[in-house]
Amino acid sequence: MTDLILTIIHHLLAFSLAGVLAAEVILVRPGLGRRNLALLGRIDTVYGGLAALLVLIGASRVYFGLKGWEFYIYNPTFWAKMVAFAAVGLLSIAPTIRIARWRGAGGGEAYVVPDAEIARVRNFLKAEIAVFALIPIFAAAMARGY
Ligand code: HEM
Repeated sequence: MTDLILTIIHHLLAFSLAGVLAAEVILVRPGLGRRNLALLGRIDTVYGGLAALLVLIGASRVYFGLKGWEFYIYNPTFWAKMVAFAAVGLLSIAPTIRIARWRGAGGGEAYVVPDAEIARVRNFLKAEIAVFALIPIFAAAMARGY
């Protein structure tokens, strides 16, 4: 039962994280102004929260899952998945810092993020999406003992 509950939560969190990442890439586009910056800030906070919960639930699956922790820690695809997840986390640092700076920028209600900064953050977000796509691939291989 514990394994089933952890699996369900793990999948819901993983899909939610993908959704939140998609929302960020949709919002971060030229013309981004004050109103959507507030929304983007909230979404980025949810993103961090979901990622932290995924680490917690993922680690719980390693320890309390049906296969036992030894199944994973000697499995290279488990570590490939961990590296990909860590890389997504690292790639998300720059956008989070930028979003916080944009939210704190002066200029009042008329403030619009410069296009060059939007382009830079979009590159990070696209890289996050590309690496994120590797995670379910490694997960499927990992679960089958490759
Ligand atoms: C620290 C982070 C994570 C840890 C420790 C972790 C750990 C695990 C574990 C132990 C399993 C069980 C595999 C089995 O049935 O033997 C699993 C499955 C899975 N994980 Fe994660 N996970 C993490 C993050 C993620 C993320 C970010 C995604 C996003 C796509 C993800 C997607 C999946 C999928 C799709 C499965 C099911 C694989 C299958 O049964 O074919 N995981 N994960």
